Amino acid sequence: MKQQVLLYCFLAFYLLLGQSATPVLAQSIVTIPIESKDYALVLQTDSDQRLGITHFGKRLNNAAEYAGIKAMYKRDDNNVGINNNAYTPSGTWSLVEPALQIIHADGNTSTELRYVSHRKEVLANQVTQTSVVLRDPVYATEVTLYFKVYPQNNVFEQWTEIKNAEKGNIRLGKYASANLYFMGSDYYLRHYHGTWAGEMKPEETRLPFGIHTLDSKLGARANLFQPPTFMLSFDQPATENTGKVLLANLAWSGNFKIDFEMDPYHNLRLIAGINPHASEYHLAAGQSFKTPALIYAYGENGIGEVSRNLHSWARNFRILDGNGSRLTLLNNWEATYFDFDEKKLVGLFAGAKKLGVDLFLLDDGWFGNKYPRNGDVAGLGDWQENVKKLPHGIGYLVEEATKAGVKFGIWVEPEMVNPKSELYEKHPDWVIRQPERPEHYYRNQLVLDLSNPEVQDFVFGILDKLFTQNPNIAFIKWDCNAVIYNAHSAYLEKQKMPQTHLYVDYVNGLYSVLERLRKKYPIVPMMLCSGGGGRVDYGSLKYFTEFWVSDNTDPLERIFQQWEYSYYYPAITHCAHITDWSKVGIKFRTDVAMMGKMGYDIVVDQLKPEELEFSQQAIKNYQSISDMIWHGDLYRLVSPWQNPIASSMFVSPQKDRAIVFNYVVSNRYENSFSTAPIKLQGLDPQKKYRLSELNLFPGTRSSINTTAVYSGDFLMTVGFNPNLSLRRTSVLMEVAEVK
Ligand code: GLA
Repeated sequence: MKQQVLLYCFLAFYLLLGQSATPVLAQSIVTIPIESKDYALVLQTDSDQRLGITHFGKRLNNAAEYAGIKAMYKRDDNNVGINNNAYTPSGTWSLVEPALQIIHADGNTSTELRYVSHRKEVLANQVTQTSVVLRDPVYATEVTLYFKVYPQNNVFEQWTEIKNAEKGNIRLGKYASANLYFMGSDYYLRHYHGTWAGEMKPEETRLPFGIHTLDSKLGARANLFQPPTFMLSFDQPATENTGKVLLANLAWSGNFKIDFEMDPYHNLRLIAGINPHASEYHLAAGQSFKTPALIYAYGENGIGEVSRNLHSWARNFRILDGNGSRLTLLNNWEATYFDFDEKKLVGLFAGAKKLGVDLFLLDDGWFGNKYPRNGDVAGLGDWQENVKKLPHGIGYLVEEATKAGVKFGIWVEPEMVNPKSELYEKHPDWVIRQPERPEHYYRNQLVLDLSNPEVQDFVFGILDKLFTQNPNIAFIKWDCNAVIYNAHSAYLEKQKMPQTHLYVDYVNGLYSVLERLRKKYPIVPMMLCSGGGGRVDYGSLKYFTEFWVSDNTDPLERIFQQWEYSYYYPAITHCAHITDWSKVGIKFRTDVAMMGKMGYDIVVDQLKPEELEFSQQAIKNYQSISDMIWHGDLYRLVSPWQNPIASSMFVSPQKDRAIVFNYVVSNRYENSFSTAPIKLQGLDPQKKYRLSELNLFPGTRSSINTTAVYSGDFLMTVGFNPNLSLRRTSVLMEVAEVK
């Protein structure tokens, strides 16, 4: 009632002043605009000092007018509480999905949050950070909401800190990172499902009333079936160049839960964070809990722009060495699997050199003696070189690789263990398992208990020893192949800590190892792998330079997978290898791998002479265009989902060069797959360009006239026809400015 009176007073006042005047609000109402270059998230207190979200969308020219937004909506409802709460507590007036659930020190389950204060800081690079302190009027619990804004990229990073200022332990039942509220007419969610070798399968859902949830309870390798990554379109599904759209990722490499709840006003509540499943977290008096961040990029001009902004943010602020270069490599996994020895490997180094890549990457199978790692059934955890396969150790391999003229990198899977290993025999208490129950394996292995500092030391020690003994190791592939079954920690039990901390402490333990590693070895490139793309997020990419998209290296499949990943992660992070997984010609395989961070997984000596010649030239071509792929702007031109062809292009920041990838993605017969030109994007309409074809297979000729000159205007309005056909299933074109 009090609320309504206040609202009417405000409305009368506002109308008196006229709509164009700056509205004046009662003293107690606090409005907090959180603005990026083009957009704003607006928080406002109500008369009870509860904090709500009143706006998410375009920013206003006059910030003073944000205060008047709420009065334009009629959505107060005594029965259901206030749906737009900026961090919804539970146990009192709010009956919707909460962001926060606390059992207080005295056992009480009710929480109420009131605005206390806020602060805005300007950090380096125009980044701003707004923090808002909320407190329970009855209990001393304090919640601080953080909003970090990267204004140029229209990217928001949001997390929460919960402080126990009570006298005894409190228990957190739910502790979301972010609680957002959107006002729209309809919401379309693009979310993903998948499995091993089938990552990032999209599904677009028009969100229904009720709650739609994305979640994982897998512990490690948490994204195997579903990643914490999504695209939300407002009003209607966004296209590349039209529509309001938000691209988001929860920066957390463990269990997550993301709820989309439509309220009775058709507004959408988004609550994202660590999955509360089996994860009640206890805080002793004085302790705080910091949630991971939800990262989101927003825009109203289609997916392409938002995605480019997110890429640019990721390269500048998140991915390790995001603006640097990457190493091309030859990996032996698909070439040898576990079947290799020193001699065979040294032979492969010569192949790497012949091919022209920068580095040789030794994969799984190099370790274990009592239980040699000759298959995935034994040896994991025993990180000593297998003396039979590698009698002279890793040091010798590094030396031989250097002699052959390539760098050397190595595979590890340090978080896991085979029960058939010395590690397991010595330290069964380091393994996540229910002591009273039969063990259950995923890929014949179990997960080490990273909540235990001793295990953290062990995992750090594996890498530290490799680097200390072989300072020239130039690359690490960090794998993680199992989910957590039978979640139980002997360490937490010994410490008399709750078992429900395990899922959270596991991930924080992993991050603390990676933090320590990066302090000591800040620049060594590291590939994030998880039996393919089973653990990719912006929490882990802080420590990694790139990630393994999928074990599925079929180029046709990769076009689709890389397309979906490309919305969220820049191409510099997409490890894409040319392998023998598919029997499609090497040109097609190579052209697809070039769209990401290119590598090989083949036996070079088995290439036919013309295939070798083609590949050697392709690597040179890649070197000449990789700057655009790694640091340029991506434009998705033709989607493989709706068309028999796919096309994407990368444009240099100066718009003087671009590279266009075109593929046929259908097996059906068509006279031509290029009945119409493909409209290019991102060029300068005033500039003149010439087009040429790259990666021609020896003996073939291009149908593209390299002497013709086109304006950027022509190429973007009319387009260009790459002449795709069943004989030209992949066409890679370079666009170069004519000065
Ligand atoms: C996982 C990785 C592969 C390879 C194998 C080795 O499946 O995704 O690339 O490293 O492990 O066992």
